[in-house]
Amino acid sequence: MKSNSLRKKFINFFVSKNHKYLPSASLVPEDDPTILFTPAGMSPLVRYLMGEPHPLGERLCSVQKCLRTDDIQEVGDLTHFTFFEMLGNWSLGDYFKKEAINWSFEFIIGKKWLAFNPKKVYVTVFAGDKDASKDNESIKIWQEVFAKVGIKAEVGDKDKPDFTRERIFCYGKKENWWGPVGKTGPCGPDTEMFYDTGKPHDQKYGPHCHPNCECGRFFEFWNDVFMQYYKDNNSNITPLKQKNVDTGMGLERVVALTEYIENNVKNPDPFLTDLFIDIIKLLEEESGQNYQENKANFRTISDHLRAVVFIISDGVRPSNKDRGYILRRLIRRTVDSLSFIGIYKQEFYSLAIKKVIDIYSSAYTELDKFQEIKNIVLDEVEKYLKILRQIKKLAPEKKLTGEQVFTLFTTHGVSPEQLRDQGYKFDNLALEKKMKEHQKVSKKGMGQKFSGGLQDHSSEVVKLHTATHLLHQSLRSILKGNIQQVGSNINRERLRFDFTFSRSLTKNELKKVEELVNKKIEENLEIKFSIMSLKQAREQNALAFFGQKYPEKVKVYSIGNFSKEVCGGPHVDFTGELGKFIIKKEESCGAGKRRIYAILA
Ligand code: ALA
Repeated sequence: MKSNSLRKKFINFFVSKNHKYLPSASLVPEDDPTILFTPAGMSPLVRYLMGEPHPLGERLCSVQKCLRTDDIQEVGDLTHFTFFEMLGNWSLGDYFKKEAINWSFEFIIGKKWLAFNPKKVYVTVFAGDKDASKDNESIKIWQEVFAKVGIKAEVGDKDKPDFTRERIFCYGKKENWWGPVGKTGPCGPDTEMFYDTGKPHDQKYGPHCHPNCECGRFFEFWNDVFMQYYKDNNSNITPLKQKNVDTGMGLERVVALTEYIENNVKNPDPFLTDLFIDIIKLLEEESGQNYQENKANFRTISDHLRAVVFIISDGVRPSNKDRGYILRRLIRRTVDSLSFIGIYKQEFYSLAIKKVIDIYSSAYTELDKFQEIKNIVLDEVEKYLKILRQIKKLAPEKKLTGEQVFTLFTTHGVSPEQLRDQGYKFDNLALEKKMKEHQKVSKKGMGQKFSGGLQDHSSEVVKLHTATHLLHQSLRSILKGNIQQVGSNINRERLRFDFTFSRSLTKNELKKVEELVNKKIEENLEIKFSIMSLKQAREQNALAFFGQKYPEKVKVYSIGNFSKEVCGGPHVDFTGELGKFIIKKEESCGAGKRRIYAILA
């Protein structure tokens, strides 16, 4: 199916169910200072989900332009996009689970609509926890809708699935809860819909396949959120004034899925659909290379260029701050990826921007600004190339000092990660030190908070302190990137750990980190310390918060053979004392930095 046809079908379907069509809002949120760009179809609707009446009524549907940049490093695979379009339908305190699920299913299997084989459809629902109970209501509704087409849908056990009978699977918050977008706002349990591609399971992803397994057999394509709660500043979850429905279906993914089903192609690949194919072909022509052999670069370039065109058409201009910086980064990453496939000429940008506009102009009239968009992009590309030439002069051998990297970052907005992509080598520790000094001067440093060590020696805090060391080492083992601690804060309820990493962690990575910490707890490792010189500690590769000043002699704590860290203590004697380690949250805490909250249960 072509993208225009899917957009029309979706809107026609929901209009036939008495929904009003709501045109896409801008990518730049109008009155929400908590977000830089619109990340979901529900964002422009937050106040109506909270109870304010919407001028168009209580049933709405839209195709919303969205932009998510948390996972910018992950673009290049089949599931991550920066810009994308979200098809959505809403009930603002009107219908609830029954209608939402029935209509989703009707749209999925209806001959006039997506016409999927119902036997290929699997669903997930919320398993329940302290905030909300198991979603038995949705389970019952799904069983009824499947029964109408002669399918007996049983509830499965994801650890021992039997796909001959089972089609409804339950998961916790990580998988089946949506929102809020920022710290506070509407949220709720959801039910997700998957298509079974029948691809054989890959044991690498676990002993059994299940809908949320990452092996690629199940393709997630739609999410119905039952927004009936509000999360406040203290993380309390309380019922909203009204029960809402918020659904989201990624247009790119569904077009790819329909093409996969209709044309028997190998994988559902959005980059081979009408939304991208002309850009992919242009890249093939200009580079003389093949998409199949250069997927990551081709996808990054086409994804980023599309985002750049939409962002500029919504009025953003490149700068060193906020939205402008994101636009700048996208343009620079495009230039980098183009150089990796040997495209350097300026005309390429005009040709590619023209293609993006041609693909989208019938759906988005605001793109009618070719000259303006082209000039802004070319100007920015030229500025970046000039900086790259300067850096090349500065470091013909591709070696930079920490100080130079720091200056390039603070004055030209060239991030250490970009420099790494360009093949430059530099001393991470020196850079980190420089960054720390800078933070101290600007009085925003996190240094003081950590340097005092533990203020509270209660048993809860001491256990969480040991857990922090296990977490630090586990992050290094699982993520393998350049992980440096940049902060830590512990109270009796939870630990909070800040570290350098350039993108958000995937669900799977978080799971692996959690599992590794728990494994080390189960192994009941002994914790010991010895006193040595700072030099010795470094030679032994003890982890440390090197931005900080240490005395000549330091205490080094080791946990079995697993972790070694310069630290003042105190710690528990054996890891078995800790209990179960649970990651509660992972989020950004500044450019290139991530924050994890975890507890011991
Ligand atoms: N707001 C939900 C999502 O973005 C539908 O997945």
